[in-house]
Amino acid sequence: MTLTITDVTPAIGAEIAGVDLSRLSDAAFAAIEHAWHRRAFVLVRGQRLSDDDLLAFSRRLGELDPPPNQEKGRMSPPGYPDIYVVSNVLDAKGEPIGALGAGEAVWHTDMSYLDAPPDASMLYALELPPTGGDTWFCAMQAAFAEMPEALNARIRGRRIKHDGTYNSGGYLRQGVTATDDPHQAPGAWHPAVCVHPATGVPALYLGRRRNSYIEGYTRAESDALLDALWAHATQPQFTYAHRWQVGDLVLWDNRTTMHRRDPFDSTARRVMHRTQIKGSAKPVAYAA
Ligand code: OGA
Ligand code: MN
Repeated sequence: MTLTITDVTPAIGAEIAGVDLSRLSDAAFAAIEHAWHRRAFVLVRGQRLSDDDLLAFSRRLGELDPPPNQEKGRMSPPGYPDIYVVSNVLDAKGEPIGALGAGEAVWHTDMSYLDAPPDASMLYALELPPTGGDTWFCAMQAAFAEMPEALNARIRGRRIKHDGTYNSGGYLRQGVTATDDPHQAPGAWHPAVCVHPATGVPALYLGRRRNSYIEGYTRAESDALLDALWAHATQPQFTYAHRWQVGDLVLWDNRTTMHRRDPFDSTARRVMHRTQIKGSAKPVAYAA
């Protein structure tokens, strides 16, 4: 097999073909790691991975991180606590086997409400609805590089509060008190612009919109500024919608991307298995 690497869009993504992730050479792994840092997400199609294969590949990127606390707690396949199931499918008792249902999942960076959010997450597609359920990625390095100076000046040196109350499906995390006040909400403060630890490239770091707050402004000023930042970052030239095929694996750099998911027919089945890689460091502020 010959490894090939193709840009997915000018701003983001590398598709890597000619690899079997269950038997990856060190050289092929190095190419994937390089593309992951430089292109923000890596797509590999046509895989046939067991949960053990998915874990073994994931461990090559770093220490595994346990699944996030979602609306029903932490959801894993039996015997695989480090795998997280994203699915709308119900079990024999009518309970969901995974998180996020069939609705829209709004733009977010995974678990940025932690002091050291995961470096990476990856999704592996096992069952898919005939339409809908596309996963979108947003290039936060490109969004920062092309940010108008007037906007840049208003966030320079500032931090943003990242909310840990609600997940991207709009569900309250298990055991957390509902609130719409960023000051009361659990979460972490991170620099608005962070540098990538491997490449030094700066990226806008927004996390998620709900309960977000920029320090040093009134709530109304912060909301207006956040709306402007979000409108800028989510423009079409910075985003890509991934139409899944069974056997696709997408690995994203959680430090330089946001992602969201389109809703799909709740009577169709969508089953994704996911792992995430522990944060190797706290997000580091960009010193312009
Ligand atoms: C996730 C996530 C979206 C999707 O797994 O972190 O946001 O497309 N998933 O399932
Ligand atoms: Mn996510």
